[in-house]
Amino acid sequence: MDTEYDIGLGNNDTLTRKKANQDYVKFWEGEANNLYWFEKWDKTLDWNPPFARWFVNGKINASYNALDVTVQRNGHKNAILWEGENNKRRVLTYHELLNYVCKVANTLKSLGVKKGDRVTIYLPMIPELIVSLLACSRIGAIHTVIFSGFSSQSIRDRVIDSKSKVIITADGGFRRGEIVKLKQVIDEAVSDLDFVENVLVYEHAKIPMLMGKKDKRWGDLINNAHEFCEPEKVDSTHPLYILYTSGTTGKPKGVLHGTGGYLVHLYSTFKWIFDIKESDIYFCTADIGWVTGHSYIVYGPLMHGATQVMYEGALTYPTPARIWELVERYKITILYTTPTALRMFMKYGDLLPTSKDLSSLRLLGTVGEPINPRVWKWYFQIIGKEKCPIIDTWWQTETGGAMISPIPGLETIPLKPGSATRQLPGINVGVVDEYGKELPPETKGYLVVKDPWPGMLLSLWGDDEKYKSVYWSKYKTMYYPGDYAIMDNDGYFWMLGRADDVLKVAGHRLGTAEIESGFVSHKLIAEAAVCGIPHEVKGESIIAFVVLKEGAIQSEQLEDELIQHIRKVVGPIATPDKLYVVSKLPKTRSGKIMRRLLKAVANNEKIGDVSTLEDEAAVDDVRAALNELNQTMQQNKIK
Ligand code: WTA
Repeated sequence: MDTEYDIGLGNNDTLTRKKANQDYVKFWEGEANNLYWFEKWDKTLDWNPPFARWFVNGKINASYNALDVTVQRNGHKNAILWEGENNKRRVLTYHELLNYVCKVANTLKSLGVKKGDRVTIYLPMIPELIVSLLACSRIGAIHTVIFSGFSSQSIRDRVIDSKSKVIITADGGFRRGEIVKLKQVIDEAVSDLDFVENVLVYEHAKIPMLMGKKDKRWGDLINNAHEFCEPEKVDSTHPLYILYTSGTTGKPKGVLHGTGGYLVHLYSTFKWIFDIKESDIYFCTADIGWVTGHSYIVYGPLMHGATQVMYEGALTYPTPARIWELVERYKITILYTTPTALRMFMKYGDLLPTSKDLSSLRLLGTVGEPINPRVWKWYFQIIGKEKCPIIDTWWQTETGGAMISPIPGLETIPLKPGSATRQLPGINVGVVDEYGKELPPETKGYLVVKDPWPGMLLSLWGDDEKYKSVYWSKYKTMYYPGDYAIMDNDGYFWMLGRADDVLKVAGHRLGTAEIESGFVSHKLIAEAAVCGIPHEVKGESIIAFVVLKEGAIQSEQLEDELIQHIRKVVGPIATPDKLYVVSKLPKTRSGKIMRRLLKAVANNEKIGDVSTLEDEAAVDDVRAALNELNQTMQQNKIK
């Protein structure tokens, strides 16, 4: 294990952990009192495994806690300091944000959106994105945000699954100086879906658009809407949002989060992890299309009345120093980013960050993938000048909020580069073997969560059975996140990556099956298999093997077409770094592709005796396919 870093920054509250260890339900009940409830709950936790319902019969509103609470205290406080790639800037105070949210909420109502209805949001990183989420929660509608790096087919699948009545989008967004035409993607995805009644379009890029019957211009409706909207008093267990995330099947899973428990989890963890103070300027570089944005851009910081920077575009554009210019310009005190972003910043050398004034920084966070110790140390030394703790937060879309992380807001413990340290108060995690038996320290196993926690997903949208089978069938009484981990002798957790077929490409979660079914939807592809290989910046990159249909002829042009196809149906984030056309894939006798073997070949690992790896394998076929793959790999065709 690596050297420890004890920089002694943080509080020394030992009581909170003690209370949490004594009775986690009572502990979370105490935390819930930090929020504003219209009516108090009568049961803190209803645990009907594997379904947890927190603060039952409590009445609450997410947007009220995120906005009105701060407006009553100090409405002039800045909520969002927004900046675009082209130096365009906007500032919104809490008061302005509340008014804006109310106008959009009233507009949604006028379009017939009611409590429990779903609204799909496909917007760039602009204040209207935050406003749209909060407008939904104001009226009890369920928001479902789709990351703007997904394309039409992915959007279509998600909109069909959630049966969204209204879509909120923009004409376009900016990325590396280019305009991404979002409305056009939405048109392709949903124009023939009858249940989609309205498409509300914000004119951000100011480009010409085709306006269809369902399309409404944001400005036309919102400018005339009323500035006050009574918050809907929803049950604590009322769904707040659906967020689709990739799993091990081709169909993305609609992770469903509730309101009260989720908000309590975020309120407390945001306070513990970031030790948030009135004067802080916070910047989370995530996109709101992912859970980090939902939890630690929208709900967590706003419930604390924090001021935050929001940036649209690439953090290395128009110059690779952009991120450090932002830190200097806004005097950012807390930066929350990803290992992929850090590896990218590192590649540009130390001169860029060291030539900027980064002295305002006091806490540095990371999320989404394991952080290599080398990157951790660079973050600590070059960015934090050895004064800022590195807060490595482990969690998932399903957990709602952080589960394992240093918590300077509560306690000071030595940090170890590459470890997310310990579980948070009120959270009970462990490392177990295949059979669920607790493993001794320093042994690699599966991470599990042993007790329910407030941010826990309610279920998967419309599919309780799948919820049970994905998370609660490997171990009947423990939640299975799908990650490998080790706990060391000091009780620190070291996260070792996914134990399933989920990839983390640039911190983005992508299921291999989703990309494979994207390939197979091409008319010339019979079969496809994808796997991840290590990548210097992105952590992992995608490599694809495809088998063509009878009669199809391999050519460079076809390979390019296949890459374009996957970009179009899944999205640019699913673009493989390498694509190989092969004549067959290694499979078991029952026809399952042996992705483990593919991965071994792709990563140049020793395969050993295939007959012992998979009993059912058609060994000869596998060998033949592997030989062919090996040969193809050696030709090293890089796409
Ligand atoms: C991985 C992102 C190591 C992990 C918030 C998890 C991490 C998956 C860390 C969830 C971390 C997240 N260290 N690995 N600090 N944080 N992961 O749903 O594999 O996009 O299961 O949520 O990211 O990804 P998701």
